[in-house]
Amino acid sequence: MKKQLQELYAQTISVIEKAATIDELEQLRVKVLGRKGDLTQVLRSLGTLPQEERVAIGKLSNELKEKIESALENRKTVLTEQQINKLIMEDWLDVTLTMPGTLKHYERGHLHPISQIQYEIEDIFTSMGFEILDGPEVETDYYNFEALNIPPYHPARDMQDTFWTEDGNLLRTHTSAIQVRGMERLKPPFRVIGPGRVFRYESIDASHENTFYQVEGMMVDKDISVAHLIYFMKTLLKEIFHKETTIRLRPGYFPFVEPGFELDIHCLICGGKGCSVCKYSGWVELLPCGLVHPNVLRYGNIDPDKWSGFAFGLGLNRLVMMRYGINDIRHFLSGDIRFLYQF
Ligand code: DAH
Repeated sequence: MKKQLQELYAQTISVIEKAATIDELEQLRVKVLGRKGDLTQVLRSLGTLPQEERVAIGKLSNELKEKIESALENRKTVLTEQQINKLIMEDWLDVTLTMPGTLKHYERGHLHPISQIQYEIEDIFTSMGFEILDGPEVETDYYNFEALNIPPYHPARDMQDTFWTEDGNLLRTHTSAIQVRGMERLKPPFRVIGPGRVFRYESIDASHENTFYQVEGMMVDKDISVAHLIYFMKTLLKEIFHKETTIRLRPGYFPFVEPGFELDIHCLICGGKGCSVCKYSGWVELLPCGLVHPNVLRYGNIDPDKWSGFAFGLGLNRLVMMRYGINDIRHFLSGDIRFLYQF
C-alpha cells in the first residue's frame, strides 16, 4: 500500500509539473484529492487496515496530500504569472507608435499665420512692459467713435463704414476702441496693446476685406514725444523682420492723434528698388500712429497738461502679407486648407 501511495504521488507530481493550464490543474486536483479522488479513496479505506499499518499509512497519506496541495498551488502561481505576461505582451498598446503605412507623422493642427504673428507681437510688447487688453467686437458708438474724438457729424466716420445692430451698436471698425477702455481702467503711466478682429463694410478685393485684424498700442507717461514713438516702432519692426528696417513718417490724419503719421517701411520684397508690392515706390505703408489727442485723454479722465502719450494701429493682415509675400488678403479667411498648410 505504501508503495502504491508513493507511485500515485510521483505520478501526480509529474503531471502537475507538466500541466499547461489552470483548468488542467483543477481537473487533476479533483481526480486525486476530490471526493472520489484516488488519494481520498486510500484514506477512506484506512479503516480496513490493521491498527499499526493504519497509523503509518494515514500519516503518509496526509503528508502526501499536503505536498500535492502545495505543488498544485505553486504550479498555479507559475501559470497565472505566465498568463499575465502573455497578455501584457500580446495586448499592450504603444500609443507613441505611428499608424502603419506611409504616414511618417501625425497631422497636427497649427495656429493660423495671423494668430502666430499676434502672439509674437504680444511677446515683443510684454517684454517692453506693455499689458495686453481685450475689448468686445460689438462696440458702442461711444467707444468706437465719440471718445476717440469722432463726433456724430465727423466725416472721418465715412472712411470706416461698418455693420450696425438694430439697437445702435456696431461691429468695431478698429481696435482703437480698446484704448478708451484701457484709459478708463488704468491710471497713468501705462503701456498697453489691444489685439483683435475688426470689421468694415468694404467692397472686397485683393487688399480689402470686411473682417481683418489689428493690434492697437498706447503708451501714456510724462513728456512722451515722437522720439518715443519711433523708438518703439523701430524695435517692434526689428523683432518681427529680424533686421533693421528703414522707416519714414508722413503726415496722416486721424482725429484721435495730433500730430498723426503714416509710418512707412522700406519695401522688404525689393529692398526699396521698386516692385509691385510697393507699387514701384520703394515704400510700404505699414502703420498709422501719432501722439494722443488731448481730447482723447480727457475722455479717458487723464489730464493732458500732466500726461501725454503715443498710439498706433498695426494691421496684422498687411504684416503677414509682407512677411510671406502673400498677394491677396482674401486667402486669410478663405478656409482653404492648402493655403493654411504652408505656415
Ligand atoms: N484706428 C485706425 C484705423 O483703423 C488706425 C490708427 C491710426 C490707430 C492712428 C492709432 C493711431 O492708434 O494713432 O484706421
